[in-house]
Amino acid sequence: MLILGIESSCDETGVALVDAAAQGVPRLRGAALHSQVAMHEQYGGVVPELASRDHIRRILPLTERALAEAGAALHDVQAVAYTRGPGLAGALLVGAGVACALAAALEVPVVGMHHLEGHLLSPFLSADPPEFPFVALLVSGGHTQLMRVDGVGRYTLLGETIDDAAGEAFDKSAKLLGLGYPGGPALARLAEQGDPEAFALPRPLLHSGDLDFSFAGLKTAVLTQVRKLGDALPLRRADLAAATQAAIVDVLVHKALAALRTTGLRRLVVAGGVGANQRLRAQLGQAAQRIGARVHYPELHLCTDNGAMIALAAALRWQAGLWPDDGRSYRFDVRP
Ligand code: KG4
Ligand code: ZN
Repeated sequence: MLILGIESSCDETGVALVDAAAQGVPRLRGAALHSQVAMHEQYGGVVPELASRDHIRRILPLTERALAEAGAALHDVQAVAYTRGPGLAGALLVGAGVACALAAALEVPVVGMHHLEGHLLSPFLSADPPEFPFVALLVSGGHTQLMRVDGVGRYTLLGETIDDAAGEAFDKSAKLLGLGYPGGPALARLAEQGDPEAFALPRPLLHSGDLDFSFAGLKTAVLTQVRKLGDALPLRRADLAAATQAAIVDVLVHKALAALRTTGLRRLVVAGGVGANQRLRAQLGQAAQRIGARVHYPELHLCTDNGAMIALAAALRWQAGLWPDDGRSYRFDVRP
């Protein structure tokens, strides 16, 4: 089953082809990705209307590139998957519309996927895929969740953020520090030159006893420090970046370990853009080792949004017999 996957929920246009047999881990055959980061940079954030228009411009050329990389032709595609949500409505509609049009023309089924399920399952495309059951830490720009994953489609929410997402905390703090967009990677880079203990920043809900997160207070604490520093900010920017990153990472590591303890599981999957953070990876690695747990990541290029994770999630659902049976009605919807 050759599945074409399309991702267009935010500021990345991703198209990929995944090949799946009835059993065994599906294989990535070809992928093409365009990031709109440079376009949105001057506005300090994603401009939804510009995002939609750029998806329209990119999506067919990217589809051709992914097919070429896979050595496949359009008529080899046996199913089409797209991100149904969550995301920006206009951006999602581009991927959904193209996916349905292609599927209708090819007379193959089309299936709408949940963006977070794509992130969650993306480590299955790595050389060392995890086994079920595992705990998943989903950390992206829009979500921070801990899940118990017993199989494809069998997800139990253990805890989530009650306000900002971890990626949002990175991005908003970066903005307060005067760093560019997207802030997460910029803040992480600057933090390498700073002292994580130079500022005492709060670790919200660290000892709350549940698996929920809160990052809004941290952002306020960073703002207070920025105001206090005033003109001295440039001299202390790296230290404040390091302290901010340390606070976010501490909370994520603490709660992820608590989730392993609560469930009694010893496998942790980390997915979503913040999973690219090196401090998070280092600290989770050490903490996991202490309790004899293993941490799995998607390959670095699959940490942020991409088409491969959507095609893969569709392939795994197909293998599990979980496709809806209205795949040939060619009616599509989005769930922003
Ligand atoms: O999963 P993703 O690409 O998009 C969403 O679905 O949100 O995640 C993007 C988020 C952004 O908030 C970005 O700043 C953050 O991931 N991010 C990072 C790093 N790379 C990306 N945050 C911290 N350190 C990084 N190295
Ligand atoms: Zn994402």
